Amino acid sequence: MEDNIIICRCEDLTLADIRNSIKKGFHNPQEIKRLTRCGMGPCQGSTCRELLLKEVAVASGKSIGELEMTTFRPPTKPIKAKSILMEGDQDEE
Ligand code: FES
Repeated sequence: MEDNIIICRCEDLTLADIRNSIKKGFHNPQEIKRLTRCGMGPCQGSTCRELLLKEVAVASGKSIGELEMTTFRPPTKPIKAKSILMEGDQDEE
């Protein structure tokens, strides 16, 4: 993939930003997240987390399963406040 591809839309990060972090010696996805803010946007990494993990896996020669998963805060996708208020009342919509 080309360096100018946007990896994290929320934080406006390109693949080059991630690769530069790896070149500086950061090989832990959580470290790269803290350094670049990749995954700290409103979507909490719902799209960029996997891309970050793939890039680190390629650079480190490890599988994605061997890497430490980055932290994220639920909900990872927007939900309606109505859904929260009606929790336990499954029949009503
Ligand atoms: S795309 Fe990275 S936090 Fe949303």
